[in-house]
This record gives sequence, structure tokens and C-alpha cells, in this order.
Amino acid sequence: MDIKTDSERARDDFLAAIEDAVALDALEQVRIAALGKKGRISELMRGLGKMSNEERQVAGPLLNGLKREIGEAIEARKTALEAAALEARLAEERLDVTAPVRPEMSGTVHPIAQVLDEVTEIFADMGFSVAEGPDIETDFHNFTALNIPPEHPARQMHDTFYLPEKEDGSQLVLRTHTSPVQIRTMMAKQPPHRIVIPGRTYRCDYDMTHTPMFHQIEGLVIDRETHMGHLKGCLIDFARAFFEVDDLLLRFRPSYFPFTEPSAEVDIGCSFKAGEFRIGHQGGPEDDWMEILGCGMVHPKVLENCGLDPAEYQGFAFGMGIDRIAMLKYGIRDLRGFFDSDLRWLRHYGFAALDAPTLGQGLSR
Ligand code: PHE
Repeated sequence: MDIKTDSERARDDFLAAIEDAVALDALEQVRIAALGKKGRISELMRGLGKMSNEERQVAGPLLNGLKREIGEAIEARKTALEAAALEARLAEERLDVTAPVRPEMSGTVHPIAQVLDEVTEIFADMGFSVAEGPDIETDFHNFTALNIPPEHPARQMHDTFYLPEKEDGSQLVLRTHTSPVQIRTMMAKQPPHRIVIPGRTYRCDYDMTHTPMFHQIEGLVIDRETHMGHLKGCLIDFARAFFEVDDLLLRFRPSYFPFTEPSAEVDIGCSFKAGEFRIGHQGGPEDDWMEILGCGMVHPKVLENCGLDPAEYQGFAFGMGIDRIAMLKYGIRDLRGFFDSDLRWLRHYGFAALDAPTLGQGLSR
């Protein structure tokens, strides 16, 4: 058998096998059988070495041509098979981009966090900045400097959590209000002061409207000519923006706090029409008042305790329960739910993280 016949047979066999290969791995088997190290065409090429010059001059170009032709045929078939495989995948794997997304659990903003943001935003619009202080306080900051000396009856009203007595007989407390941060601010910096102080506070108490840990936001303004008119205007603007009732009435009821003089408690108008609680007066016999905060002009003794001259500086302070105004605004009846970490409660009363119902922009709406 001569080399020409061999080469032609190999050509026919491989072209047929390439045509028959319907998958990439079958085609690879054909390539190995033809052009692999021990493949048929490689065998034939190895035969060139044993040939005479004349024979090689004929067989060389013949075999090289064969090798190139089969290589090209394999490449072409490979491209075709890959394109067909892609076609098949595209036909089979359909993505319906209009299908609704599967519901995914997402967290909610706790009503306390939401209300803290709302309140802070309103006071920020009035030029207040935010200050903070420690939850564990000294007796001095929580009581004495606020004009509540030892044995003062107001200490009993606070149901204080005391930490174990220290060697020198002193005792730290869990702060019973955010007012100690008034002291820290006035002792650390010179007036003017215009701050709000959000934070956790603690009293030994537990029922539908009291939990041992709760939240307050305190306000403090100290300047040279601050008077009670500023206090009233500031709180009226705040309450109307926060409760989103433009003509909301506020009642300043004389009261007593050792650290303010005069002192007042502030009520907002509300009504209980048909047993339903609403913020704002409706103009009927169901109109009533609901307490929301305590306030007053900073007591001269407190200013003195912080090294300020009451003849030069005056100001006002107020403190309110965040949890309480959150309950009022969002109709939450039992305070204890705030801290139970019950997911059903949190989903019901929580706010969507990205589109929470912010009151129009604070005061500027
Ligand atoms: N600290 C007071 C309380 O917790 C509230 C208050 C703050 C009153 C500032 C007057 C001025 O009840």
C-alpha cells in the first residue's frame, strides 16, 4: 500500500468521524485519534524519516496538507458545536425578568429610634446640637449639682438603682434622668449652650406605662438674655411639628423640680371622642389634656454649682420621655412591648428603614 492511498483513507475516515461527532468530547476523541502523539496521522508523519529523498518529496507535502486539513475541519466543527450548545442553553434557560421577587425578611426601625430621630431633627432645625453622657452617674451629677442634696425628698421620687457602695462610702447610680448631662455640659464648656440630650434612663418601676429602663430627651439653653418666652415658644413649635397638628394647644401647668424655678409641666390638647384618643382638641366635651414633659428656667443654684453667674447667664431646660411621646403619637398602649423583642410587635409597630414616614422636614415643612 502506498502513502497516497494511506493518506486518502485517513482523510476520508477522519472527515467522516468529524462529521459524526455530535458533542465536544467526541470531537476531542477524534482529534486524539488523528493528531495526538499516537494518532494515525502522527504515525504516518513519523514514517517520513525512513523514506528516500524522492519518496519524501512526494509524501511530505501530502501529509502536511492532510494534517492541516484535518486540523481545520476539527476547529470548524468545534466552533459549530459550541454555538449549538449556547443556542440550546439559551433556549432552555429562560429568565422571566417580570416575575415578582420572592419576599425577603427585612428589619424595621424601632419606634423609639424613629421618634428619637424625629425629635432630634426638629431641634436641629432650631439650632440645637446633640450631647451625650454616661448611663452610670455620680451622685453629684445626678442629684447634688441639680440642687437635690442628700435627704432631699425628691430623691425618694426617683426610685434610684444604686451600685454597690465604694470604699470611700460613695455610691454610683444608674442615672434617673438625662439632666446630669446639663451639669456635665455647663461644667465643661462656656455658654452659650443649645443642646438636646437623648439617652437611656433608669428607675425601679414596672407597669403598663413604666419600665425600669426608658428613654428621655433633655433640652438645655443657656445664654445671656434667655427668658421664659423662649422656653414656651420653643416647646410650642416643637410639639406642633412633632405631633403634626398645626394649631395644637399647649398648657403650661405650674409644677416643681429642684433644678428649675419657675417650673412647669406641659400638657397637649387631646380628645377621647367615642373612647378614641386623638391628639388636638376637637371642640367638644371630650376635649382633655395629656402631660408630655417637664420644664423650667434653670435654677440659679444649679448655674452657681456649675461656676456660672446667674446675674449674667440664664436659660431653660426641659425633659421628656421618648417612649411616652412615641406611645401617644403612634397609638401604642403598653410600654412593655417596646422592650419584649417580640418580632410580631416589631413588624407591626416598626418603621421601614428606607421610607419611614418622616414628618415633612422637621420644622421647615
Ligand atoms: N429631669 C426631669 C424628670 O426626669 C425632667 C425635667 C428636665 C424637668 C429639665 C425640668 C427641666 O422628670
